Amino acid sequence: MKRFFKTVLPKIVFLTLLVSCGNLKENNLIDKKVEDLLSQMTLEEKIGQLVQQTTIGYTDNMIGQIKQGNIGSILNEVDPDVINNLQKVAMEESRLGIPILFARDVIHGFKTIFPVPLGQAASWNPQLIEEGSRITAVEATSAGVRWTFAPMLDIARDQRWGRIVEGFGEDPFLTSVMGAATIKGFQGKELNDPASLLACAKHFAGYGAAEGGRDYNTTVISTEQLRNTYLPPFKAAVEAGAGTLMVSFNEINGIPNSGNTSLIRDILRKEWGFDGLVVSDWNSIGEMLNHGYVENPEQAAEAALKAGVDMDMENHVYLHHLARLLKENRIKESMIDDAVRRILRLKFKLGLFENPYVEIKESVFYADEHLAKAKETAIQSAILLKNENNILPLSDKIKSIAVIGPMADAPHDQLGTWVFDGEKSHTVTPLATLRAEYGSRLKINYVAGLNYSRDLDNKQFAQAVAAAKASDVVLFFGGEESILSGEAHSRADISLPGAQKDLLAKIAETGKPVILIVMAGRAIEIYKELPLVDAYLFSFHPGTMGGPALVDLIFGKTVPSGKLPVTYPKMVGQMPLYYNHKNTGRPPAGELETIENIPLEAGQVSLGNTSYYLDAGKDPLFPFGYGLSYTTFEYSDLKLSATEITGKDNLRVSCTVKNTGNREAAEVVQLYIRDLVGSVTRPVKELKAFDKITLKAGESQTVEFTLTPDALKFRNNQNQQVLEPGNFNLWIGPNSAEGLKGAFILK
Ligand code: NOJ
Repeated sequence: MKRFFKTVLPKIVFLTLLVSCGNLKENNLIDKKVEDLLSQMTLEEKIGQLVQQTTIGYTDNMIGQIKQGNIGSILNEVDPDVINNLQKVAMEESRLGIPILFARDVIHGFKTIFPVPLGQAASWNPQLIEEGSRITAVEATSAGVRWTFAPMLDIARDQRWGRIVEGFGEDPFLTSVMGAATIKGFQGKELNDPASLLACAKHFAGYGAAEGGRDYNTTVISTEQLRNTYLPPFKAAVEAGAGTLMVSFNEINGIPNSGNTSLIRDILRKEWGFDGLVVSDWNSIGEMLNHGYVENPEQAAEAALKAGVDMDMENHVYLHHLARLLKENRIKESMIDDAVRRILRLKFKLGLFENPYVEIKESVFYADEHLAKAKETAIQSAILLKNENNILPLSDKIKSIAVIGPMADAPHDQLGTWVFDGEKSHTVTPLATLRAEYGSRLKINYVAGLNYSRDLDNKQFAQAVAAAKASDVVLFFGGEESILSGEAHSRADISLPGAQKDLLAKIAETGKPVILIVMAGRAIEIYKELPLVDAYLFSFHPGTMGGPALVDLIFGKTVPSGKLPVTYPKMVGQMPLYYNHKNTGRPPAGELETIENIPLEAGQVSLGNTSYYLDAGKDPLFPFGYGLSYTTFEYSDLKLSATEITGKDNLRVSCTVKNTGNREAAEVVQLYIRDLVGSVTRPVKELKAFDKITLKAGESQTVEFTLTPDALKFRNNQNQQVLEPGNFNLWIGPNSAEGLKGAFILK
């Protein structure tokens, strides 16, 4: 120990100082370069840097605009030759030779497609997500893309909202951890590495709170909610080094975010010290007219620049109106300069001035290790929600299987939303995997039954039923096509679309065991169908390698370890639904009145009644954090380092987790707290830590977490970060509804 303090520690301190001095020097150097360049720029060239425009290829029009210095960033060009040619014009034929920043929505893979982000969240494995995002960056940058519009960090509590699939679910802590991992993976160690992909935390902020789950809709969010629920993932993204942020389409409390000064200038820049670039969403500046916030495009440009939006995506209002606004003294040139500075600084940091071109080399697309990582991620993203009589994994005794359902062989749809570059010809579907890996040993009776998820035509039903009857077990692959979730694809009915429910019912009538596997962009309402099936394996759209991943799970080559990143509803009418809700003045408890029990012409009574639905009850179908395994885990021996702490102490909390089954498997151990009394009421549970551990059969492990005072703080409605003394409960367990319970007092 002495040696540590005498020799090792000083070395660490010295090296850390050296690195931070190095960074400081490099940043100063970049700042100097930025100032030199800025001082040479005309107003038109400055405004040009604030313009992001969609690709129109290598056309005269584009070349002309670049030559004039009218474009700072190009969106959606992925042909490396075109990128290099356009870049050459910028470097050699524009007056100052400022490189273009090429951007693309690379959301869950470029060519090798990983599970949709909500599926990735279900892995509860940030390391895996970081590794996958690195692969995505390597593939995307090899095509010349240096900026992606991901990760999406919008907390979403409504399965109707199509974009719930693009984020990491309903919980601020899980979203923060997964978001930071994605950012680190995209950006890599150094931004100036040609394989570094600049991340963009979006959509700032509150977009997921859209009224009724209707995309782009209004949000009304209190200070307490904004600060404790919607903003933390963005703060974590800034801390993780995200280079850029995108503002969202929605308004919060009457102010559209593209013109929201308090959000961008006050919180993001002043409070969090973010010095990266803020980009608008597509047309979102101009849409302030539709919101009824400004009267014309000029006012929109004025409001956005004043609020702190640096770059105008596709709207061209900056291009057309900033010069005039400046002439009329409605904006200051320093505002334009600051925005230009932030954009140039990133271009320098990315090394674009020295290294503007993409080196065209042997393709890295779909490399074996990329596919292997995509498969591993799909495995860890699948959640086992029902497994009656341990029917899964399938026994070796099974000789024949019926493969039924529209998602069994849907190479396009299993990829999920926001896939522009991944090709379905590379997708490996469950059917293809089954045939390749088990075709010689098993009789595989395949009848799709329905050709796509919305298909209403029942003419294959009889054939599907016959296939089921002729088989030992049925694998029913249902779900949603990829186009039924994602941007602008909200649904009011979130059950299995088309005639899938009817088909499933017909198959169940055969009496054969049915394994239901669902691939979807949201938690699908399955309440009525669940009793018809023996097992339910839920996979969000699992990507390129979804087939091999699911088949390995079904046959037990590997064990499910995914856990729900959202609360799984019984019925759509429960939306919004989330585990970390408030207790209310009338929390439901004990026997609840149900719709069936109410006597005819019963008189109005409300005394003793509580907050729940007569027809859906109080509980979800499955709680947040839930997921089964092929083994069982026992939690015991909860220990707290103290039962009373002060606001300066850390609390160490541990328990023993034992694998009591006979398979090696991974378990996500989760720590929740409840602050019992607050000057602003606190949620009934809040996730504060988790760890995914792997245990051999019979093995035990002590899992320890540290709760810091910061984890016990919250923001009140006066926007103060407070740590309030009082009683806390805590739980360590396998999901948000179960666990060992302890308590402590904060003095
Ligand atoms: C609109 C979407 O809201 C955003 O997420 C996306 O990055 C941009 N379009 C660019 O495609």
